[in-house]
Amino acid sequence: MGEVAAVVPAAGSGSRMETGIKKQFLPLAGVPVLGRALRIIEACRLVGSIVIVVSPGDETYCSAIAGELGLSKVAAIIPGGKERQDSVYNGLLALSASTGTVVIHDGARPLLSPKELEEVIKAAGEQGAATTAVPVKDTVKLAGKDGFVSRTLPRNRLWLTQTPQAFRYEIILKAHRRAREQNFTGTDDAGLVEHMGLPVKIVPGSYENIKITTPEDLVVAEAIIKARGQ
Ligand code: CTP
Ligand code: MG
Repeated sequence: MGEVAAVVPAAGSGSRMETGIKKQFLPLAGVPVLGRALRIIEACRLVGSIVIVVSPGDETYCSAIAGELGLSKVAAIIPGGKERQDSVYNGLLALSASTGTVVIHDGARPLLSPKELEEVIKAAGEQGAATTAVPVKDTVKLAGKDGFVSRTLPRNRLWLTQTPQAFRYEIILKAHRRAREQNFTGTDDAGLVEHMGLPVKIVPGSYENIKITTPEDLVVAEAIIKARGQ
């Protein structure tokens, strides 16, 4: 898998959270959301360096969080772009040319497990591209424009995609470059690799690895942290 670098997009505005402080900087049981994610990534023995992507102007604040947690693998804190895809692209360009594998993890997901992080990196080393995901619990229906059910999708084949996602560096760089050329916007990085026609391996993730998006997610996250004794 070569040298492994992590890219952590944290340059969003958190508009659905509707708080004064951006959600990635909100404290969860005393530690900022982003800090919790970074702490797990830092502790992964496979990861050699971390590039954090923040909104222009948030670099110093982010650097203080990394300093307070004593993180030693942060190689750069760089400005993001308009969309998540732009922020990740900036992060990819900031990696050293000797990078073999890239793991991408949202700064808004503080509860990833060390195990899923390691497994998705290993899967990318073997398969080229991999995403963590969990099986859907509810039955998913496809709706028609008329508001009626068009059909019921086969539940045993449906997965909810999360980050971390990991890729061989040259594959994800090419996928992002091609998406930009074609004005293609995906909702995740694996989607850009799929768009190139390349396979993406599914690595089972965890239902606890929620993305902090709306205020009730904070309540759930605090409860998970308490149950874990963290
Ligand atoms: N992100 C980013 N750059 C952007 C937009 C999003 O780096 N231009 C990051 C977010 O900080 C977050 C991750 O991508 O870590 C997932 O995005 P999302 O949950 O949508 O966060 P926000 O865009 O901040 O929230 P919202 O969509 O509610 O505004
Ligand atoms: Mg967003």
